[in-house]
Amino acid sequence: MEMLKKLFSLEGKVVVITGGAQGIGKAVAEHIAAVGGEIVIIDQQVEKAEETAFEIGQKYQRKTFAVGADVTKPEEVALAIEKADREMGKLDLLFNNAGIVLQKPVVELNPEEWRKVIDVNLNGIFFVAQAFGRYLIERNKDGAIVNTASMSGTIVNYPQQQASYNASKAGVVQLTKSLAVEWADKGIRVNSISPGYIFTELTSFVREDWRALWKELTPFKRMGKPEELAGAVIYLLSESASFATGTDLIIDGGFTIV
Ligand code: NAI
Repeated sequence: MEMLKKLFSLEGKVVVITGGAQGIGKAVAEHIAAVGGEIVIIDQQVEKAEETAFEIGQKYQRKTFAVGADVTKPEEVALAIEKADREMGKLDLLFNNAGIVLQKPVVELNPEEWRKVIDVNLNGIFFVAQAFGRYLIERNKDGAIVNTASMSGTIVNYPQQQASYNASKAGVVQLTKSLAVEWADKGIRVNSISPGYIFTELTSFVREDWRALWKELTPFKRMGKPEELAGAVIYLLSESASFATGTDLIIDGGFTIV
């Protein structure tokens, strides 16, 4: 019964969302506010993050805060967490979501390009999770983290060639499991979501013929909407998922099962 009252509620929780200025992070942030959460957006696009935080705050009458940081820079991440804690009074949960994609054949990829994708998508997820884990552990606080991986951590996309992205996301899935085990006795749950093709700024610039093929290859015959991921993130962050850790929730319109 106690569980039922709290089902999918994030009432009173302060939730940090990286990459929340736009796309999946923004849509999920809005839904988190709708179920009672207060929002901190960490993004390198500071002005856009501020606008998003303000918009959500107004719409749902919640306290929100935006702070600029590049997730590949551990010192900036630590400072952002410190500022957010000072502003909000506490931090409870993390949606660790900032990421980039690069579609380029391996033979044409230069070392900087490879490093950049791994740096944002894997190192960035690690630095933010590490800073947030430290924050919770230093305060002896329970908490939960959801990392954004991708179905690309499980399958190889086609026809676009994006080995750096795929490798980085497979890394996120395994990092999630490692953190889940390492922090299980600290009361910190760590899970990931693996979206299929979702229509956001990230995918809106992609060639039309590729997008048509993606839809064709997806049993639902369409791309997902960012808000279709919100329920999964809210579930994994909420007390409803109190026995779930190290899991990767694939939300892909059936793409990976055919
Ligand atoms: P997006 O490009 O619309 O949003 C990404 C956000 O992350 C932006 O606000 C950007 O400023 C921020 N960001 C990028 N690099 C950053 C850095 N170094 N430091 C701080 N912030 C940074 O992308 P979208 O589609 O919302 O993607 C969000 C996450 O979902 C990414 O991790 C992406 O890989 C993942 N994903 C997206 C899918 C899709 O089809 N759109 C499918 C599967 C996973």
